Amino acid sequence: MTSDQASASGGDADGKAGSLPFDTSVAHQARMYDYLLGGKDNYAADRAAVEAGLKFFPDMAFTVRANRAFLGRAVTYLAGEAGIRQFLDIGTGIPAAGNTHQVAQAIAPESRVVYVDYDPIVLAHARALLTSGEAGATEYLDADLRDTGAILEPASRLLDFTKPVAVTMLAILHSIPDADDPHAIVARVMDAVPSGSYLAISHAGSELLDPEVRRSLLGTWNGKVQQQLVYRTREQVARFFDGTDLVEPGLVRVEEWRPDPGSPEGHSAGWCAVGRKR
Ligand SMILES: C[S@@+](CC[C@H](N)C(=O)[O-])C[C@H]1O[C@@H](n2cnc3c(N)ncnc32)[C@H](O)[C@@H]1O
Repeated sequence: MTSDQASASGGDADGKAGSLPFDTSVAHQARMYDYLLGGKDNYAADRAAVEAGLKFFPDMAFTVRANRAFLGRAVTYLAGEAGIRQFLDIGTGIPAAGNTHQVAQAIAPESRVVYVDYDPIVLAHARALLTSGEAGATEYLDADLRDTGAILEPASRLLDFTKPVAVTMLAILHSIPDADDPHAIVARVMDAVPSGSYLAISHAGSELLDPEVRRSLLGTWNGKVQQQLVYRTREQVARFFDGTDLVEPGLVRVEEWRPDPGSPEGHSAGWCAVGRKR
């Protein structure tokens, strides 16, 4: 573990991929995110972890909202300008305003979306993700990103992997420690989709947070939050996009990616980009 990581197991006690236990006494990333977005699907441990973190990093709330807004703009771009009709959304989170299928189907009703998450609380709310319009379709997979076979095989039943797919991994890869080789995981997923597919990622950025703040934050969460949080450099995040061409404006803070006029001002601690597979 490096100083950039808060410890916790993301799967089994031995670190292997697996579904998360449903444990309300330990904070979960999905429920902390829900709390920061103003949702109701969170428990005392989640709220306490967020409130403790906010003392060191008050811009965390802005970061989370800016990340969610990036999701909306990225999917709008993918379904609109890029003409994508198939989405694989890994690390879905608890349903909130503007889920991927709602944004995509508002532009292209025939859009098909496969959602993937490994948290039982997300599974419990999956019905809200299965409200596809009749022209399109949605599916939910209870699976761990580290087990790509458990995602790609069932996803291929709803999505046609001979046609372009947009793979979205927003605010998930910073929960995958280096020991699980997140770059190899992303490469395996992108190998399964054809040229002309897209990859959208957002990720906690080391340079975007003062080192002292980062240490205090991770120290506060150490042992209290289920997932590891791994801040990565801009260069490490850029490497996820190997084999793709980044669409404008490239790899930037989440609030800087094609912002809508009048978007809230602030400074997030998240990098993001969208790349097109060569
Ligand atoms: C912060 S939420 C992001 C939700 C959504 N992507 C967004 O950006 O608005 C991250 C989600 O990733 C999920 N997650 C973390 N590690 C995962 C893994 N190894 N496999 C599947 N899901 C994972 C968490 O359970 C959580 O629901």
